Amino acid sequence: MMKTIIEPFKIKSVEPIKFTTVPEREDILKKACYNPFLIPAEDVLIDLLTDSGTSAMSARQWSGVMDGDESYAGSRSFFRFERAVKRLTGFRYIIPTHQGRAAEKILFTLVGGKGKFVPNNTHFDTTRANVEYSGAEAVDFQTEEGKQPALVADFKGNMNTEALETFINEKGAKNIPLCILTVTNNSGGGQPVSMANLKETKRILKRYKIPLFLDACRFAENAYFIKKRERAYAGRTVFEIAREMFSYADGCTMSAKKDALVNMGGFLAVNDADLAGQARNILIVTEGFPTYGGLAGRDLEAIAQGLEEIVDEHYLRYRIRSVEYLGEKLILAGVPIVQPPGGHAIYLDAARFAKHIPPHQYPGQSIVCELFRAGGIRSVEIGSVMFGKYDAKTGKLISPSMELVRLAIPRRVYTQSHVDYVVEVVHEVYGRRNLLKGYRIVEEPPMLRHFTAKFLPIR
Ligand code: F0G
Repeated sequence: MMKTIIEPFKIKSVEPIKFTTVPEREDILKKACYNPFLIPAEDVLIDLLTDSGTSAMSARQWSGVMDGDESYAGSRSFFRFERAVKRLTGFRYIIPTHQGRAAEKILFTLVGGKGKFVPNNTHFDTTRANVEYSGAEAVDFQTEEGKQPALVADFKGNMNTEALETFINEKGAKNIPLCILTVTNNSGGGQPVSMANLKETKRILKRYKIPLFLDACRFAENAYFIKKRERAYAGRTVFEIAREMFSYADGCTMSAKKDALVNMGGFLAVNDADLAGQARNILIVTEGFPTYGGLAGRDLEAIAQGLEEIVDEHYLRYRIRSVEYLGEKLILAGVPIVQPPGGHAIYLDAARFAKHIPPHQYPGQSIVCELFRAGGIRSVEIGSVMFGKYDAKTGKLISPSMELVRLAIPRRVYTQSHVDYVVEVVHEVYGRRNLLKGYRIVEEPPMLRHFTAKFLPIR
């Protein structure tokens, strides 16, 4: 008999969580202007806002923290970090940054600019913002499969390579400084990219001499899916698979806050000496000296250790299974989710969950607020709030292809009973979905509006 897949760790240190009542949470929501980013974390019972920077570090990582070398230049911890990243990625130049978006900012400051186009399977919001901030245009090439939430397929995170090639011919390779593959595809439902798709993307780009970069935040989860779903890789280790993934790329940006199991950190890695030199110049101005970037020596130690732990297959089996478990329970109750479950999160299909709320009244935001009100669960909308744009001429909202609510699972933080509780709350809210109300935005910034926008329910 198959035994239960258990957490491959025991718990040495705990953090109490605060219980609140429904009336208290109604008040909290109102004060936060119905935006989960504006809710004080103390008032959250189960925090599924993000899997980023929320991991529980291991005892070894914490001892690395104590052992960090805080020298300004040439810190021993930097060399340990550099060795760990090189061993995994094979890239030549490793540039530490304080988080993923800092690496993106440096990269697109160098290669972006007006008249340029950056293709991606699906840009994450900060990647898109950094591309656009440079003046370039960020273009997504999700496959048709990837756009259908209910469809079960192995690699819904893939790049639509035919559309990519047509686009390159249309815009001209000289206007495309690089192309990105986001692994796993976060905005596309946490879905993996296959090795076959990675290779095919590289084959096309090579023909046009366009570099390929990985947005590698969740490389280990992606590699595990390849092992489970692409037959040729069944017998390979996740580490070997990850090495192969990186071998097709010319560089990567990485938020270490995900698959390096740390609370802060990131890096830019490249093979091109020129690009590395220029990146380091910007790094010194905006982040810090090249042997610490935006980080303390202790952070670099924790990343080096985290990169070793993340490719442990007992961990990855538990990780992917625990997310799948949440997905299975919701599917069983008829709750519409993006199928199959992703690597780091379950995405509720808000368009089907709250059918009666049109995109311009933000069905996802409505579900987010109700999950908090009903159960103290914090989630995030990934739909018209996060990616909606206004038509320059008509002022009308242009919605993205999906309206989703993400329940992101922090790494090594919650146990099965926490997840069972989440299932119960989602069931309850789904049961009275017809009563959910739409929302309108009453205040918003010009960029990345989901972080600070203020909402009001529509009466
Ligand atoms: N790329 C992807 C695919 C991401 O998911 C993120 C962050 C980043 C880049 C930026 O990294 O936060 O270290 O600057 N995603 C978090 C999330 C915030 O909640 O999905 P960062």
